[in-house]
Amino acid sequence: MLFGLRLLFISCCQNPSFYSVQLSCVVIKVKHLEMSQERKEDDESQAQELPVKFNFIPESITSPFIDIFPGQNEGMVRGEPGGFVFSREYGRRANEIYQFKPRKDDAWVCTFSKSGTTWTQELVWLIVNGCDTEKAKQIPLQMRSPYLEGDYLISPEKMPQEIRECWALESLDKRPSPRVIKSHLPFNLLPPQLLDTSKVVYVARNPKDVIVSNYHHFKLFKFHDFKGTLEDFANYSMDGQIYYSPYFPHVLDAWSKRHHPNVLFLFYEEMKQDLRAVVERVAAHLNQTVTEEQMVRVLEYLSFKNLASTEAAGKEKVKEMGIMNEDAGTFFRKGKTGDWKNHFSPELNERIDKWIQDNLAGSDLKFVMELDKQD
Ligand code: A3P
Repeated sequence: MLFGLRLLFISCCQNPSFYSVQLSCVVIKVKHLEMSQERKEDDESQAQELPVKFNFIPESITSPFIDIFPGQNEGMVRGEPGGFVFSREYGRRANEIYQFKPRKDDAWVCTFSKSGTTWTQELVWLIVNGCDTEKAKQIPLQMRSPYLEGDYLISPEKMPQEIRECWALESLDKRPSPRVIKSHLPFNLLPPQLLDTSKVVYVARNPKDVIVSNYHHFKLFKFHDFKGTLEDFANYSMDGQIYYSPYFPHVLDAWSKRHHPNVLFLFYEEMKQDLRAVVERVAAHLNQTVTEEQMVRVLEYLSFKNLASTEAAGKEKVKEMGIMNEDAGTFFRKGKTGDWKNHFSPELNERIDKWIQDNLAGSDLKFVMELDKQD
């Protein structure tokens, strides 16, 4: 600023005819500076403090926990109040996410992990992008729809550069509208203005299938590298000791907000049962219309078979990045309801039923544990 004024002074002395134009430029610039300063102060005075404190969990880097989750060698944090468990990197930077600015024309996909997030992101992205299935096929979903806290899963040095580039918070901030943002964080850790600003689609899935799907996910990704049995994993899930847990407060809080005009609450099971109806509801929620020709293309694109084939096509790239264990299955695994029946012993199933019953006591939230008919 001072440098600019000095230049102006010199040019006025040399050529007085520039004076009035230059002066008005400076007045505008100073005014602009004052206004952005005021806006900044306004933003700062409106900034709310993160209502949760995160503490490192020492047992998360000692035996037996670390033997069973060797990929999580940076340890975990727990937030209070609420008991939310996540990576140590998130614990350091949770406030950055809380202060992130949602936009009016954003569409957010919020879920507990393994509830059909990817499927819903694809759907929401298509709806806000004129059902452009060709573009969707060309650009990987991770680039089209960033993962809000994805850059916080592990420390930055360990995160592949290309993932950092599309998920770093600064790059999300610079993305053109409309943005389709994914997050697994519970609402109380997301920016407090979110629901009054942006459209949100929340998806819930029955907790039994979530446990099974998450078990395979934790085996697949190297930054978890889960080595235990399914029963171990179910116990850790019920005890609220895995990333993004506890499950019930996450889902119940979203359920309590389902009547908010900016929230559309969906179930994975209803997407399986009648995807066309869900596409229509999502389009209406996002103030868009879908023609019959578009609907046919969208349904085809969203089929399990098609989405799984895109994963297969990008396999080499993922291998190169070194984030997944080879021979530990695929991300698009089965895409069914009721797969838990193939995994739970009667004793484990009984304990899980009790866990569900205890946590849903007094709530009108009900899950469909398996559809009678599914493709
Ligand atoms: P399974 O592991 O039970 O197969 P998220 O995206 O939240 O991680 O959820 C992943 C789960 O959604 C996986 O469940 C995956 O197979 C399932 N899924 C993804 N696309 C799907 C589709 N088109 N139809 C049915 N299920 C789908």
